[in-house]
Order: sequence, then C-alpha cells, then structure tokens
Amino acid sequence: MTESPIGVFDSGIGGLSVLQALQAELPHEHFVYWADSGHAPYGEKSDVFVRQRSLAIARHLVEQHRIKALVVACNTATAAAIHELRVQYPRLPLIGVEPALKPAVALSQTRRIGVIGTRGTLGSDKFHRLLSSLQGQAEFVVQPCNGLALAIEESTHTAVSAQSSEKISALLRNYTGQMGTFGSAAGQMDTLVLGCTHYVFAQNELQSLLGPGVQLVSTGEPVARQTRRLLEAAGQLRQGPSPLAASARLTLMSNGELSGLQAAASRWLQLPHSACHKADPRV
Ligand code: DGL
Repeated sequence: MTESPIGVFDSGIGGLSVLQALQAELPHEHFVYWADSGHAPYGEKSDVFVRQRSLAIARHLVEQHRIKALVVACNTATAAAIHELRVQYPRLPLIGVEPALKPAVALSQTRRIGVIGTRGTLGSDKFHRLLSSLQGQAEFVVQPCNGLALAIEESTHTAVSAQSSEKISALLRNYTGQMGTFGSAAGQMDTLVLGCTHYVFAQNELQSLLGPGVQLVSTGEPVARQTRRLLEAAGQLRQGPSPLAASARLTLMSNGELSGLQAAASRWLQLPHSACHKADPRV
C-alpha cells in the first residue's frame, strides 16, 4: 500500500487549499483529487445528499484508485459524512477538516473570534459539539455565508471571473459587516476562522477588508500534519531519495467544467492543464 496514492475530495476546488498543504508536508506521496463540482455547492444541500456523495466518491477512490488514506478536504462533507465513512472503512486512515476553533482560541488576544463557513457546517451537530466544548474560553460570532463557496467556485471560470470577483467582494463585505467590528482593540474580533476550504482562496480580499491586525485561521497545515502522523502510525509513509515533481504525483479529476479545475490548479498549484481529467460520470 505504501506506493498507493492518498485520496482527497471536496465539493469542488476548495480542497485544493488543503492539497497545497498536503503537497508541502508530504513531498514523496502521490495524490488523487476529486472535485465534485458537478454537485457543488454542498453547503446549502441536505446532509443526506452530502453523505451520499461522500460515500460514492470514497467508494470510487478506494475501488478504482486503491487509495491508502482519504482526506475529506471539505468541512461540510466532514460534518455530514465522516462518521459514516469511518464505519464503512474502519481500516482506512481518514482525515476530516473542521473549523479551527481551538487554534483560534490559542491565538486570540481579545477573546472574540469570528467563524465563517457554510450553512451545512455551522448548523451541524458536530460543529455545535465543538463550540460547546470551548464554552467560556472565548466568545464566538458565527456567520454562515450562503453563496460564497459557489462564487469562489465560479471565479475559476475565466468567462465570469471579473463578475464573480465583484460578487465575492460584495458577499464578504455583507457577511463580515453583519458580524460586528474586527480589530485588535478590546471587544473587537481579532481572529477569523475560515470554516470552509473554499474561503482560503478569498483570504487576500478578506485580509484587506478586515485589516492587517486580524488573523485568519485555516486548516490546511494541521490537516497535512495529521495525515503524516496517521500514515506513519500505519507504516505507510512513502519515502524517497528526492521529492517527486508536482505534476508527476498529482492526478486531479472533476465532474464539472474541466476548464474551472484546470484554471484553479494552474493558478494555485502551478499545475499544467494535463494534470486535470474528466471524472467518471457514473460516480
Ligand atoms: N469547501 C467546502 C467546505 O469546506 C464546501 C463548500 C460548498 O460546497 O458549499 O465546507
């Protein structure tokens, strides 16, 4: 199994932000990435739908690509499906993502922390359990951002990108405006948790909107470190004399517009278009 790839999936291109961190942490590994763009966004769909998609993708990656580990690079899918995935694949190292509230508590000086994510993630029992476990340690201002993941997803299509970057800015202004005041003074939110992997690709816009004093917290790096730990523990870490070239170790698939994935992979991971393929439409 050591030579097998690691599977990574998301509702679309958001999980590429996690893949970036995985690549950096695990330079000898092969990855297969599934962008479920034909069914994005997940965040405003039912739990049952997201769970079915997650199980179908996992089955495909296990059976067709013989993956040795699975990274669910999507907060919404983790909230809806990680439990069921663990039941169905008890021996497969499985890594999910959740909004990084604990790291945010460690970073915040003002003890007021903003959290943005999809409606599915922030409305889930899993998220509510996480929030209650930190009760008393900080005040959390939680804001679901309907439409934001989709706008980021659409921003990869060159034809609509100018329009969608205006849309992204308008959504960010609107949602962060509703949350209250950001800044480093007492009573202000000095930390914002990006509870959706798509939002990482809007972090420059967010940082200029909120100012340099506000810390943005995402999950790519801790998830990559956890993946390494689980592979080590399972004795399945791939070692090699020198790191593999990115294009040789990454296979990306999408069941949406291939040009969207190609544009995102080239912009954020500097990958050639040839790394991206049409996903099996039967999944
Ligand atoms: N990127 C996903 C997440 O982390 C889902 C976004 C969506 O499809 O709504 O939640």
